[in-house]
Amino acid sequence: MNDAALTTGPRLVKRPAWQALVAHHRQVQGLHLRQIFADDPQRGERLSAEGAGLYLDYSKNRVTDETIRLLLQLADECGLAGRIEAMFSGGKINASERRAVLHVALRARTGERIEVDGADVVPQVHAVLDHMARFSESVRSGRWRGHTGRAIRNVVNIGIGGSDLGPVMAFEALRHYSRRDMTFRFVSNVDGTDFEEATRDLDPEETMFIICSKTFTTLETLTNAHSAREWTLRKLKEESAVQRHFVAVSTNAEGVAKFGIDTANMFGFWDWIGGRYSMDSAIGLSTMLAIGAENFGEMLSGFHAMDQHFRRTPFDRNLPVLMGLLAIWNNNFLGAETVAVLPYEHYLKRFPAYLQQLTMESNGKHVMLDGMPVDVSTGPIYWGEPGTNGQHSFYQLIHQGTRLVPCDFIGFCQPLHPLGRHHDLLLANLLAQTEALAFGKTKEQVEAEGTPDWLVPHRVFEGNRPTNTILAKRLTPQTLGQLVALYEHSVFTQGVIWQIDSFDQWGVELGKVLAQRIIPELEDTGEPTLVHDSSTNTLIRRYRRFRKESS
Ligand code: F6P
Repeated sequence: MNDAALTTGPRLVKRPAWQALVAHHRQVQGLHLRQIFADDPQRGERLSAEGAGLYLDYSKNRVTDETIRLLLQLADECGLAGRIEAMFSGGKINASERRAVLHVALRARTGERIEVDGADVVPQVHAVLDHMARFSESVRSGRWRGHTGRAIRNVVNIGIGGSDLGPVMAFEALRHYSRRDMTFRFVSNVDGTDFEEATRDLDPEETMFIICSKTFTTLETLTNAHSAREWTLRKLKEESAVQRHFVAVSTNAEGVAKFGIDTANMFGFWDWIGGRYSMDSAIGLSTMLAIGAENFGEMLSGFHAMDQHFRRTPFDRNLPVLMGLLAIWNNNFLGAETVAVLPYEHYLKRFPAYLQQLTMESNGKHVMLDGMPVDVSTGPIYWGEPGTNGQHSFYQLIHQGTRLVPCDFIGFCQPLHPLGRHHDLLLANLLAQTEALAFGKTKEQVEAEGTPDWLVPHRVFEGNRPTNTILAKRLTPQTLGQLVALYEHSVFTQGVIWQIDSFDQWGVELGKVLAQRIIPELEDTGEPTLVHDSSTNTLIRRYRRFRKESS
């Protein structure tokens, strides 16, 4: 065990930079973005950074140069540079699971060397990528035949959490680049509706299931996988059909073989890849089937470019570091409890859902690496919707509500579908929102418009709402990789400051264990003795009673 992984150093609130930030916050809390911008006409250009194909404007945050200086000092005091190096060099920084954290190896170039326990993992990564590419090519070309000799036209990914959210998000994001003559579906929920709706119009003879599960033990995934098997065999009858219609992505070869999938059609990955950091591993097999190996490679090159940027760029120009530190400022000093992620690109409609697992499973932690309770609040709540839709829904609260909701706006300069004025209208809305949130509209401005006195307070916009704007030229496989890696490393940066383990997820365990206890109580045909609390016992009894009654 690498003891350094458990060392947290002085408590965060005792660090000189933290204390300086507390004092600094007292001085600047009255500042308004209106004033800050008026005092510094170059601010918009100055407080921006560019790297790996993405442009970040962070000038509309409630920060001064001094805030940034102190946040950067905090990063230094927390040893961020050393932690980044530890991650990239295979250190076991996932302390509570005693594992290396090497999603960056998934996009390492041939010839790079990254070791885990003395073994270079890069050749293993490339061997799996080659296997995926061969397989994808044979399915896409129609060479791979189903049990009855028909080509595969439908791909159904069965997985949950990291084995679903990344694949769905990437498929939706890159749909423009995908095979339009094939159907891609994603089943995650153990609710039978999910499976039924995903398969109701598909023909088993032309359908392939990818069973995605790192552990190959997850209740939801295995239940859906068994239903998929029954669904397939109902029509194809012979057990041998499973070999032509099922492949697996897992670290558990034994579990895969037990299910009846030929392990030659299993795509592996490793315990040093966390589920929520796995969309560019074999977990992305559905993505590769949809967009082809070459585009998948482009996506990896986008990830890689952001990895290099994160590792090599001085922190004051480093996009993930700046975003991570600003998140700390907004959360711990301005008291914001959530972050809204607002993509102005319809293809990114699942990006906020994907980010919820990435950010909240990573940084929703209550103890530090050494097991001591954290002394500041950690992981904020991430949520969001594609831009203009949100404008006609929840933006009211962001503009005029009583809570502070920092926002990340994401936009692209070139549309994938040039359609009349649409794209300019879309981007005008993005820019207008960031302007409105920062500068608002004063009482004087509202009055000057001739607004009746009684209506004035309702029409005032306080402004001073912090936003980041991320711009890229065009949504491509490469920019998607850059964007995801940007958030991965921003999450890591925040975790390092909070001194938590961003790579474990013990908080998902208890519910799973308790469900295992309740399942037989629901299925029991007799009268099981219930020993839960009175609420849970009553709910179980009610469920059992109502379930039996005809609707
Ligand atoms: O329950 C949470 C979790 O463990 C996630 O971290 C993971 O992405 C998901 O379940 C799925 O796990 P698996 O890929 O092992 O089925």
